[in-house]
Formats: sequence, C-alpha cells, structure tokens
Amino acid sequence: MLDLNLAELQQHPTPFYAYDLNLLRQTLQAAKHEAAKYDYHVHYALKANSNAPLLDQMREHGFGADCVSGNEVKAAIANGFAPEEIVFAGVGKSDEEINYALDQGIFCFNCESSHELEVLNDLAEQKGQVARIALRINPNVNANTHKYITTGLEENKFGINAWELERVLAQLQTLRHIELIGIHFHIGSQITDLTVFRNLCTRVNEFQEWFLAHNIQLQHINVGGGLGVDYYHPEQQPVPDFESYFALFHKFLELRPGQEVHFELGRALVAQCGTLISKVLYIKNGQNTNFAILDAGMTELIRPALYQSYHKIENLSSAKAEVRYDVVGPICESSDCFGKAVLLPETNRGDLIAIRTAGAYGEVMSSAYNLRDKAKAVYFQ
Ligand code: LLP
Repeated sequence: MLDLNLAELQQHPTPFYAYDLNLLRQTLQAAKHEAAKYDYHVHYALKANSNAPLLDQMREHGFGADCVSGNEVKAAIANGFAPEEIVFAGVGKSDEEINYALDQGIFCFNCESSHELEVLNDLAEQKGQVARIALRINPNVNANTHKYITTGLEENKFGINAWELERVLAQLQTLRHIELIGIHFHIGSQITDLTVFRNLCTRVNEFQEWFLAHNIQLQHINVGGGLGVDYYHPEQQPVPDFESYFALFHKFLELRPGQEVHFELGRALVAQCGTLISKVLYIKNGQNTNFAILDAGMTELIRPALYQSYHKIENLSSAKAEVRYDVVGPICESSDCFGKAVLLPETNRGDLIAIRTAGAYGEVMSSAYNLRDKAKAVYFQ
C-alpha cells in the first residue's frame, strides 16, 4: 500500500490521485509469474484505469490489452500495445469503432449478440477482411458480487445465452467475413470467493463439450477478469493472491491440446496502487453525527455512492484520540459520502485524508458534475 510521507504529499494541490508505481510493479510481477506457470495470457482491462504510466507498466510486463471502446483501442495503440495483443469487447460497439479496430488489425472482437455478428461481417466485407471473433457466452453463473457488477446471469445484457448458441452457429456458417477463434466469458467483478471461478470452469467445460460435439475446435478460451481485492485490509494484502487464482483455473479448466487461455484482469492489477488524497475543508456537528467535509467527492470517486462500496479512510495528519465521522464530499447529493460513522483520529480543517484502494474504477469514473475540476494524478516511484 502507498506509504508516503506527509511533507511529500503536502506539495500537491488536493484532491489528487497518488499512484504507487513500485507497488504496481510488484503486483504485475506477481501476476506475470503466476500466469507464466501455465502459459496463460493476461490482457489488462483498460477500463479499470487507462493512465499512460500504468499502461506503460502493463506493456513492459508483457500484458495485452482488453478494450471496451474505440478510444480504449486508440489508447492501447498510442501506448505501444501491438494490435495483435488487443481484444475488443462490449455490447454496443459502434460502426466507427469497429471500422477503426478492423483497420488496426486487432487480435479479436469479443462479440456479444447475433446482430453484432451480422454488422461486423458487413463491415469486414466492405474492407475485404476476415475479422477474428470470440463469442461472448453468458454462462448463467452467479458471481455473488454487487448486482451492478454482476454480468454473467441470463438477466444481464451481456453475452449470448446458451439457448441461442445453436442458432448463432448456423448463422456463423453464412458469415464469410468472420472467423470464430474462441469463446469468451466474464461473469462479474470484485469476486473474492474463488468457488465462483470454479463454477465458471465447470460451465466452460460444458460449453467446450458442446462445441466439440458440433465439430468445432476452439483455439482460445477467454475467461475474463473479476478477481477481487481486499478493500478492508489493503495493508495486509497489497498484492492479490494470483497464485490461488491461476492454480484454480489450471486445476478445473479442461483444455484440448494447443488451446490458449486468456484472462482480462483489471481491478486486481491496479486497485491497491491508487489512493485518493483529499483535504478536510470543514468539520460540522450534525444532529447525531459529526461530518468531516472533504474537498474530494463522488466526482472523484463514485464507487461508494454507486455501489455502496467500502474504501478504507485514514487521516494522515492526526494521531489524536479517535472520534466517529461521516466522511462526505462537497457535491450537492446526499449520496456523496465516502463512509458513515468512520473512526478517525480527531480531525481538523487542513488534515490530509487518504482513501485507499482507489486505483481501479476511481479516476476513470470521475465526472465534471457541479463543474468540478479534474483531480490530477501524481506518480510515486
Ligand atoms: N472483461 C470484461 C468483459 C469486463 O466487463 C470487465 C469489467 C473486465 C474484464 C475486468 O474486470 P475486473 O478484473 O476489473 O473485475 N465499475 C465497477 C466495476 C465494473 C467492471 C466492468 N467490467 C466497480 O467500480 O466496481
């Protein structure tokens, strides 16, 4: 976890995101080491954080890029990822985005509907190309995570449902500008119970059997991302347990000779290296509670407001006796609250507050609501 001295932090105007590149490197080395044991390929999900210094580290550690928009594909290419290391997913790829990705010659489109296959085929035909695709299948596996970040249930908008597959295969026979190279899954995010991934493996094995029974050999199995991190004790587990995660897939996924397994990790790679640093503007005594009002709010980090998610909050400036505070931001919304009844050392105007584990889905989800300035990113080696 980011361990910085106060004097260094005080040099920067708040609020800002502080990134610990040293911890990022340790995390990436661990992930790379564990994945390499089984020859697994990891694509970094840019949606978690697409800041260039982080992307540089991803590339230097040999990860590919998992993109969900044309601009993410552009960012990956601008940051030196080879097109053949890029996959492009998403339920709503626009024609412009597809054309751009075709022009770049990316490795694979993860396709999410039969209608998308039709459009991709037409666009590839216009360019005289054959687009490589993986079918994103909705495996109907419960990720046991927050409902807003569950993606692999039939009620979700993502992927092709099992009962549609027969029809989609028949459709693929007619699409001459599409080459099926694999299947893709992603069941949700912030998954901390590894048995969920075991259930995913069981479903993937069943789908493999189904494809074999239809005489289709798949080269690539992409199991998506989703590995969770410890938001409660970032200091105890700054680097996620990649060893158990990859070993589980090795144990339970049944592969055919020559098949490659791909992963799309986002959060697990970058969450712990980022901290949102903010300053206390005011202390206000409410009827039942004290409010610590920060200069950062849901515009900088929306996760608590959107998913009621927990982020550890620390006062870096005070070592006094502890008092409970509702830690809130300046935005005109009652949901603009980072934590209720948080125990903090007695807090005063000007104290620096650290909101931990904010490297993933933090800065990328920031907004200009209330016409706020964008928080800067500061990188620490
Ligand atoms: N692959 C696909 C197709 C995805 O949709 C996602 C994330 C990932 C990979 C990366 O998942 P990860 O390894 O990061 O769990 N904003 C939410 C998380 C949304 C995740 C969306 N999809 C949050 O702040 O918790």
